[in-house]
Amino acid sequence: MDIRIALIGLGTVGQGVLELLHRHRDFFAQSLGFRFEIVGVCARRAESLQHALIPATAIRTTDPLSLAQNPSIDVLIEVAGGEDAPRSFVSEALAQGKHVITANKALLAKHGTDLFPLAAKHQRALSFEAAVGGGIPIIRTLEESLIGNEIEGLACIINGTCNYILTEMTQHGLAFEAALSDAQRLGYAEADPTFDIDGWDALHKVSLLASLAYGRFVDYTRLHVEGIRGVNLLDIRMAEELGYSIKLLGVVNQGQDGRISAAVYPSLVAKTHQLAAVNGVLNAVYLKTSGVGPLLLTGAGAGKLPTASSVIADLVALAKQMQTGHAKPPSFAWFSRDNAASLCPIDELETEFYLRLSTLDKPGVLSKVTGILGEDGISIRALTQKPEHDADNVPAFILTHTTQNARIRKALLRVDALEVVTAKTQVLRFWR
Ligand SMILES: NC(=O)c1ccc[n+]([C@@H]2O[C@H](COP(=O)([O-])OP(=O)(O)OC[C@H]3O[C@@H](n4cnc5c(N)ncnc54)[C@H](OP(=O)(O)O)[C@@H]3O)[C@@H](O)[C@H]2O)c1
Repeated sequence: MDIRIALIGLGTVGQGVLELLHRHRDFFAQSLGFRFEIVGVCARRAESLQHALIPATAIRTTDPLSLAQNPSIDVLIEVAGGEDAPRSFVSEALAQGKHVITANKALLAKHGTDLFPLAAKHQRALSFEAAVGGGIPIIRTLEESLIGNEIEGLACIINGTCNYILTEMTQHGLAFEAALSDAQRLGYAEADPTFDIDGWDALHKVSLLASLAYGRFVDYTRLHVEGIRGVNLLDIRMAEELGYSIKLLGVVNQGQDGRISAAVYPSLVAKTHQLAAVNGVLNAVYLKTSGVGPLLLTGAGAGKLPTASSVIADLVALAKQMQTGHAKPPSFAWFSRDNAASLCPIDELETEFYLRLSTLDKPGVLSKVTGILGEDGISIRALTQKPEHDADNVPAFILTHTTQNARIRKALLRVDALEVVTAKTQVLRFWR
């Protein structure tokens, strides 16, 4: 069976797709019976349209819409990136009866509520294994392999840039800025790293995972997000002393009342937990399931071949459906605003907290702080000071018993307004 493909994007992932299609072409043809033919490629700049593995006969264009509208194409692979530009040509491809495979979580988190129903309307696939966790087969695992389970909750390390920075700080004692510079030099972080280090990239993926786990649309714009900018070496060392690692986690749970909570924030993960050992650019998704029990999927969350591997998995799965002529009903027809999940706001969630205060070296400072915490009903588990610092900035560390996020938020408004508190208090949550 011949399957005619348009490849939009010839950067890291697009080149990986070309390489894997080339490397496995005999296996795909002889063992599976598929001949994948690249009939069109697209990039922003004409000079990007050169690659030794692009067939000589392929259309080379800088206009993605022309490929979306080309009637000879069966499948459009979108590995260009961006949010609004791909929305128009992906919509057009679906409307023109093409299946679409994308690696673009930002596109789906922002415009999935238009695109998935559109795919369903036209009975076409919109597959996205590569969009969450790069090479980790988490979408198919949730959609198919764990279909006989309830997902009781999940926690994920889903942004390689942040995990690399936190690992460098922990293992080599690098300050945040130095670890970020290293990540940029090695190509793990963008020149403008905001999207990664402020947690937005992770949030997009977490919203997709939460939606998938509970079969309802989880709107990322309504979720709580904190990045890793505020984490410093004092936090890393204190976490170490306590037997924890700091990880940027996406945390998803369903409460007794059926409401879903999903958020991204830096967390203290016990060193004895498997997630604490997921280091560097690796990603991981830890699932608590009703049948299988706990399950950890970990591996390369980004990179040319890992990400392309997931695109190819979607392509072959789609080809098998096309071959039988019985395409399964399009997934995620339910991913719409009409089917929005009922969400539990972070303020209502309870956890144990780690607080790092920056205070003046004066008597009575800590009693003022603990007094405020006490008035807000926050019970303190431990309190330590590090007196070796300068008199204008003495760090104090407070660990709380389980308490509501709203109480901490409210108390810290007053604590941070104290004259003796010299900087915004750093808040981390324990994850168990
Ligand atoms: N890189 C990873 O490890 C990874 C992992 C998981 C998911 N993803 C996702 O995969 C997608 C691609 O990432 P990437 O790292 O391969 O990006 P990249 O290296 O920056 O490559 C993007 C490619 O798309 C082209 N392009 C961008 N906007 C376009 C547009 N509007 N029309 C036509 N072509 C356009 C670019 O053209 P020019 O070459 O002319 O600039 C370039 O060839 C993104 O959505 C990303 O989030 C990437």
